[in-house]
Amino acid sequence: MQNELYMENKNIKYYLLTGGAGFIGANFVKHMLKAHSDIKIIVLDALTYAGNLGTLKEDLKNDSLIFVKGDICDSKVTNKIFEDYNIDYLVNFAAESHVDRSIENPQIFLQTNILGTQNLLDTAKKFWTVGKDENGYPIYRDGVKYLQVSTDEVYGSLGDTGYFLETTPLDPNSPYSASKTGADLIVKAYAETFKMPVNTTRCSNNYGPYHFPEKLIPLIIKNILEGKKLPVYGDGSNVRDWLYVEDHCKAIDLVLHKGRIGEIYNVGGHNEKQNIEIVKLTIATIRRLMEQNHSYQQVLKPGHPGIGFINDDMITFVKDRLGHDQRYAIDPQKISKELGWLPETKFEDGIVKTITWYLENQGWVEEVTSGDYQNYYKQMYENR
Ligand code: NAD
Ligand code: TYD
Repeated sequence: MQNELYMENKNIKYYLLTGGAGFIGANFVKHMLKAHSDIKIIVLDALTYAGNLGTLKEDLKNDSLIFVKGDICDSKVTNKIFEDYNIDYLVNFAAESHVDRSIENPQIFLQTNILGTQNLLDTAKKFWTVGKDENGYPIYRDGVKYLQVSTDEVYGSLGDTGYFLETTPLDPNSPYSASKTGADLIVKAYAETFKMPVNTTRCSNNYGPYHFPEKLIPLIIKNILEGKKLPVYGDGSNVRDWLYVEDHCKAIDLVLHKGRIGEIYNVGGHNEKQNIEIVKLTIATIRRLMEQNHSYQQVLKPGHPGIGFINDDMITFVKDRLGHDQRYAIDPQKISKELGWLPETKFEDGIVKTITWYLENQGWVEEVTSGDYQNYYKQMYENR
């Protein structure tokens, strides 16, 4: 049926987006549905604790979006998708993505992030191959591409100065970043050994709507609304380079359609901030928004002592993360010069948009934290 549709309209492009029910993947689905016509998106997602179909509820009303529940490591599932749909682009967002969880339980990170990536590459290679050249290298159907969504964490940690370039040696420190590095190297191996058409993007820390509240910014927002302490690891001096998620989505779209085959592109917006600055800014912004618009105060959870209590005294410095990377900072000159990408959302605007979204979408937060979240929080933060 789907192949018939494809035959009817050759202009339709088929996108397989893995991990499309997670934070960045879901934002990318929304971006693509807005930015392009003549597309069909197939989201493959295992719906782990980090994936939530509710995030795509409105989008799934659109005929252009199809959801398949399944594991990227499962070749039966990935083969079936390629049999059913004439996939043109595969963008791999699916991953175990939280550093703290990778410290508690590394194995699933290697399983999903490395073996899952390898299975996706293998499936795409099989279905995209249309012949062999005289040296035995596969020849691929015109226009197909695999894009690996990677992270700046593969470069390891910086001191006070310097930036990550695409040529910076890979030097990961956490089980999460080591597994993402393993995935990047497998992608490189398929590009070299099988001449697969691939790109890799390495982005800095994202923030924005639909971010699961185990990560710094949404966790701090959630705790402020609940009147809980705000846990800052170590002395709060660690630096991250924050990018609004929509800007990341636009960069991926650009690399997918215009990026030179085989290239790696770093994505980041020169927006370095210490964690303590982020936490203080989040406190001040919530308080200001609630003072300006009193109806937001209704979002405070029962028993909350009120907005007078929302101040820096909520901060508590807790035991540092093991192997905590000190500083990440991206130099995005390659993607800017080659593809004309520039971040569009200034941090001061992006953080207000993000916090406003959380104040107005507490139902989403409650839905995604209704499962194992309380146990996770206890295990990670009680007695820390
Ligand atoms: P996320 O944890 O919010 O979402 C991951 C998604 O992948 C979830 O929907 C989950 O259900 C799905 N998933 C997990 N294991 C799966 C499996 N085995 N099979 C199928 N689906 C599976 O992560 P995110 O923050 O949206 O990150 C997306 C990608 O971007 C990841 O590859 C991550 O490494 C990368 N990245 C993230 C950031 C960031 O700041 N969040 C920055 C740079 C790169
Ligand atoms: P996080 O959002 O987990 O992203 P990443 O580890 O991939 O950069 O953390 C961002 C920074 O915030 C990182 O330096 C760890 C720190 N952090 C805290 O201080 N407290 C917290 O509760 C969390 C989750 C993170």
